[in-house]
Amino acid sequence: MSLLFSRTTLGPLALQNRLVMAPLTRSRAIGNVPNDLMTQYYAQHATAGLIVTEGTSPSPNGLGYARVPGIYSAEQVAGWKRVTAAVRPLGAKFFMQFMHCGRIGHPLNLPQGARILAPSAIAAAGEMYTDASGMQPNATPEAMTEADIKSTIEEFAQAATNAIAAGFDGVELHGANGYLLEQFFRPTSNQRTDRYGGSVENRARFVLEVARAVIEAIGKDKVGIRLSPFGVFNDMPPYAAMEAEYTGLAAELDAAGLVYIHLVDHSSMGAPAVPDSMKAAIRRVFKRTLILSGGYDAARAESDLEAGKCDLIAVGRPFLANPDLVARWKAGAALNAPDMSTFYTPGPKGYTDYPTMAA
Ligand SMILES: Cc1cc2nc3c(=O)[nH]c(=O)nc-3n(C[C@H](O)[C@H](O)[C@H](O)COP(=O)(O)O)c2cc1C
Repeated sequence: MSLLFSRTTLGPLALQNRLVMAPLTRSRAIGNVPNDLMTQYYAQHATAGLIVTEGTSPSPNGLGYARVPGIYSAEQVAGWKRVTAAVRPLGAKFFMQFMHCGRIGHPLNLPQGARILAPSAIAAAGEMYTDASGMQPNATPEAMTEADIKSTIEEFAQAATNAIAAGFDGVELHGANGYLLEQFFRPTSNQRTDRYGGSVENRARFVLEVARAVIEAIGKDKVGIRLSPFGVFNDMPPYAAMEAEYTGLAAELDAAGLVYIHLVDHSSMGAPAVPDSMKAAIRRVFKRTLILSGGYDAARAESDLEAGKCDLIAVGRPFLANPDLVARWKAGAALNAPDMSTFYTPGPKGYTDYPTMAA
């Protein structure tokens, strides 16, 4: 009997299995609006128990990358409605990931009038691809004023209302991988001297205020969060107090009532491993659903579920390259290899043309 392929629940939702399609930015949203190609892509993956969309911006300010979708305009809501309508009858439950990129971005990827915002005016090391001028250094962000913080939180809450109106079952706050929420939480990117910076309580404030505002808008059973303790992506160096601070944050998120924490371990992508002690500590303090992700194959997914380390397993690259991953893993079949060269390129190649087993 496989646990991975057995039914379970996420808050009040029934899931057809415990496999989650991890959030995957694919940069096919021309004009930042979801389209028919994206509808086809998500429908192809709808045998998952839960799909988490690619990072989707709650604000024009949060777009960061080229061709990522948003959820702040009526056109975007209408586009996402078509996506959820295609996925729903196929069985997967569907959460939208809210990715506000903050300082990871370039003005050339943003609509006119949008601003690159972050807790402090500190540019992240590294470069950003732009369609207009190729690779560019990450922009130096504007330090957010209290008014910017307030309006950004309001954007998250409105985006949550929009996501539910578009037919999603819930939203996942992207608190991982060096984007805005993590920029507030980590001491290197947050050098503020007001009540949003300094102590860990202050650095957690923005994350918790966003979470509470989104819960207020759509209800706690519909809100999860992704976290990446020990993650170094996007110029986020490790620091001594990290394990204790993230465990404290998980306890606060438990008190706020979120339905899940989705923990990222990017050691399969070259980052330091998240120690088992950290995963176990979060499991202890966070009472609702725990999703683990990063480098999973079917055997490890099954053994971590059996050991009670988590409730659901999220899979990125193998799922990206195998829309019928559930059937392949059930059958013990070979997998297509992901083609990195088409991860972020426009069009169907490397997106909707991976063959299924029967093909
Ligand atoms: C092409 C690509 C795009 C990604 N985009 C996102 C994203 O939008 N949001 C996010 O939280 N993680 C993103 N990730 C990270 C994945 O969700 C996942 O954590 C990572 O691929 C490790 O899991 P895997 O070993 O199963 O692939 C992305 C990864 C890849 C390869």
